Amino acid sequence: MSLIVENLSKSFNNQPVIKNYHLTIDENEIVALVGRSGTGKTTFLRLINNLELADQGTIQMNDDSLVKDGAYVGKVGQRNYQNRMGMVFQNYELFPNLSVLENLLEAPLAQKLGSKEELKDRAMELLNSMEIVDKIDAMPSTLSGGQAQRVAIARAMMLSPDILCFDEPTSALDEESAKNIGKLIQTIAQQGTGILIVTHDNTFAKKYSTRIIASEDFL
Ligand SMILES: Nc1ncnc2c1ncn2[C@@H]1O[C@H](COP(=O)(O)OP(=O)(O)OP(=O)(O)O)[C@@H](O)[C@H]1O
Ligand SMILES: [Mg+2]
Repeated sequence: MSLIVENLSKSFNNQPVIKNYHLTIDENEIVALVGRSGTGKTTFLRLINNLELADQGTIQMNDDSLVKDGAYVGKVGQRNYQNRMGMVFQNYELFPNLSVLENLLEAPLAQKLGSKEELKDRAMELLNSMEIVDKIDAMPSTLSGGQAQRVAIARAMMLSPDILCFDEPTSALDEESAKNIGKLIQTIAQQGTGILIVTHDNTFAKKYSTRIIASEDFL
């Protein structure tokens, strides 16, 4: 399974941020996107996660396109694409009024991906492998940054994405927690998911990615 981006362009107020950009991410890859502030890294993540509209180009996951030559596909097609794409936000964006377990179950239950019992088993398995199963009934406000990050990753993995994106996964973490997240990302990639990480942390990028790309190449 590959993410394929071709000829992608995006401007804000006639100011180009991304111009005719190409990128492919294959399964098992860990691609680190690095570059100066304001060079379009978050914009790129938002485009491939359908949170921002492209002006031109193609974004597709194998045969499931989101946008083809600048034309967005219909609602069902967009959903098919999005079901294969996962995103872990910089501030984690956990639902504050839901427990850890409820955070993990919300989307897969809504999408009817399994019975509550099956999904709970999967949630337990993921939380166990991330060593936070003891926090299953905790509320997000009581978690440390590293714990909240792992819950956000487990929540994304509940939907078995083919590609998983991270915006600045280590910016709020100490060295030890960053190392644990790096290893966790490597394990996820070994299981088949392609990874795209936006980071300012060059040491982290060098240590854990299989390929580094620069946002200065967006233009
Ligand atoms: N919604 C928007 N409206 C107008 N301009 C925007 C919008 N979003 C981003 N921009 C502009 O696009 C450019 C790229 O912003 P973006 O947030 O993608 O950069 P970044 O590489 O993620 O930066 P940082 O490293 O600081 O997070 C900036 O010049 C920004 O001002
Ligand atoms: Mg950014």
